[in-house]
Amino acid sequence: MILSPSDAAIAQAAQALRDGQLVGLPTETVYGLAANAGDDAAVAKIFVAKGRPADHPLIVHVASRDQVPLFAAQVPEFAQRLMDAFWPGPLTLILPRQSGVATASAAGQDSIGLRCPSHSVAQALLQACLPLGVLGVSAPSANRFGRVSPTSAAHVQSELGPDLLILDGGDCDVGIESTIIDCTRGEPVLLRPGHITRVQIEVACGRAVLDKDTPQAVLGQPAPRASGTLESHYAPRAKVRLMSASDIAQKLQALGPHTNNLGLWSAERPASEQGMGAGVLWRQQATTAEQAAHDLFGVLRDLDARGVSQIWVQLPPDTPEWEGVRDRLQRAAA
Ligand code: TXA
Ligand code: MG
Repeated sequence: MILSPSDAAIAQAAQALRDGQLVGLPTETVYGLAANAGDDAAVAKIFVAKGRPADHPLIVHVASRDQVPLFAAQVPEFAQRLMDAFWPGPLTLILPRQSGVATASAAGQDSIGLRCPSHSVAQALLQACLPLGVLGVSAPSANRFGRVSPTSAAHVQSELGPDLLILDGGDCDVGIESTIIDCTRGEPVLLRPGHITRVQIEVACGRAVLDKDTPQAVLGQPAPRASGTLESHYAPRAKVRLMSASDIAQKLQALGPHTNNLGLWSAERPASEQGMGAGVLWRQQATTAEQAAHDLFGVLRDLDARGVSQIWVQLPPDTPEWEGVRDRLQRAAA
């Protein structure tokens, strides 16, 4: 059931979390499937509902920095700076975990992913949870494992069914999941690109951001697992193919005007003399990375729902601000 986020609905959702139930949670990035991080049995329900493998850890969402010491054993100075710069907001930090806390969320890691979301409904819910003894909320994206992340309450319901209590926070502003920085290896390591770019991270913490495949020998610490970083993820049913604008024009022309069941997300609508016909469903790709990220999962979902067999996507530029969108596209196409 989808509830508009009145005070009563927030209180009901907080109580549901307190009682070990799951809640659909709007955030500024994507919707999450939330459970009390302090209740391992409740967190186990998330893995079942998503069909998520048991060894893929979940992010714990906190109301503010005050809750960080409850979950993290230690916070390096560069991580403090990142919290100063970007919290509340779409940034997740992987930190050494306090032993014995959020065990189910950590899924076997001795680290914990922490994020303080900025969405007003997420903030209201996290605040309402504190007096009930719910000090953190574990929430992966509220989609079935491997599928496209939800950016509206209706998406969540279509993924997880009508019984789940979902707070309706509107369409997500950012549209792709948080940037994840591993802070357990001595230097900041980018595990998942997002709206906050590696350049912004470097400026805020005054250090170079390393790539996740940086050899262990350089960092000294082994790399953690991250399911959102699997090669194939965020996949719609339709086959996604990434192409340049000129490839799209050429291939459309080769297929001819009677092409059917094709979805196309590109900056410019191809002309009919370039093979564009009625059987091609075109959606305009925004020219800014922010807007394209905002639209991305909704476009994939919408074209999928219309039953296209392929979605052709114009590959955006290889620049830092597009890294998050390119990453999701590459994995949707893998
Ligand atoms: O924007 C977001 O981060 C959204 C919203 C709901 O907050 N959440 C999200 O969760 O994207 P999920 O589970 O779909 O992705 C979480 C990612 C996964 O790739 C997971 O493996 C990684 O974070 N992760 C969580 N804890 C970790 C840890 N201790 N070590 C390494 N990776 C971790
Ligand atoms: Mg996910």
